[in-house]
Amino acid sequence: MPLVTTTKMFEDAYKGGYAVGAFNVNNMEIIQGIVQGAQKLNAPLILQVSKGARAYANHTYLVKLVEAAVETTGLPIALHLDHGPDFETCKACIDGGFTSVMIDGSSLPYEENIAVTKKVVEYAHAHGVVVEGELGRLAGVEDDVKVSAEDSSYTRPEEVFDFVSRTGVDSLAIAIGTSHGAYKFKPGQDPKIRIDILEEVEKQLPGFPIVLHGASSVIPEFVDEINRYGGKMDNAIGIPESELRKAAEHAVCKINIDSDLRLAMTAAIRKYMAENPSHFDPRQYLAPAREAIQGMVEHKITDVLGCAGKA
Ligand code: G3H
Ligand code: 13P
Ligand code: ZN
Repeated sequence: MPLVTTTKMFEDAYKGGYAVGAFNVNNMEIIQGIVQGAQKLNAPLILQVSKGARAYANHTYLVKLVEAAVETTGLPIALHLDHGPDFETCKACIDGGFTSVMIDGSSLPYEENIAVTKKVVEYAHAHGVVVEGELGRLAGVEDDVKVSAEDSSYTRPEEVFDFVSRTGVDSLAIAIGTSHGAYKFKPGQDPKIRIDILEEVEKQLPGFPIVLHGASSVIPEFVDEINRYGGKMDNAIGIPESELRKAAEHAVCKINIDSDLRLAMTAAIRKYMAENPSHFDPRQYLAPAREAIQGMVEHKITDVLGCAGKA
């Protein structure tokens, strides 16, 4: 099976009350760990590549690695551009083998967001590629952009129908309380998703797939492991998995997870290096890192996304 778009995945996920995991990829071990987890549980998969990932690993390397994942597993896998910053980057990915792109105009004024998103949709659809847009602004860090909590803003449900109908997007990312990175809430804050906003959005867009960014839970076990082996990550707090499970049962069909993979990988490498100070073969510490990624993905598929057996 070649790379697929997310169209059927999202139709099935919406009807089935589950979500598909969209995991960020930057190198071979990360791709292998994710894919092995999804294969073991027969889950559909979205592998997503940020602007930073393309700069780090090279577009062609990542596409070929993802193609290898498709060839070796036979799973339905979509290759998605995460947070496309402009039309040119989206076009490069559409021309260069991606099956899905996000155009992130969420920091632009509303009409400018519509204009750039519509332009990407027209080009993408003419090439058989689907498009995710974004309305509302998440806090946190992604690529070189840092959005403070004060500058973030929830999606306004009264805008979503207008945005989707005027742009023609295939899915919509909304801001309902999640944020990027490992420091999503301050100690003492209530880490909650605004399910009420999600429900309002659903009423405006019945049957339409919604996307949640910034959906890592920053599982304390992994942060503790990093700190135990020389790291320093104080007050790292994510979004509880029970909150995400609720969202997946609603209209959320795609849940983006990157930070939890980074934490699992870093914890495994720190532990390995601390316990084996004389080792210097990268395969020795990258193998447990890959296994840790696989374990994290299996956990997400089973306990958060609910998409095991849905490939
Ligand atoms: O939302 C952003 C993702 O976590 C990707 O992060 O831009 O550092 O590759 P990155
Ligand atoms: P996290 O930082 O919560 O993993 O979010 C990832 C993301 O939204 C990628 O687009
Ligand atoms: Zn994101």
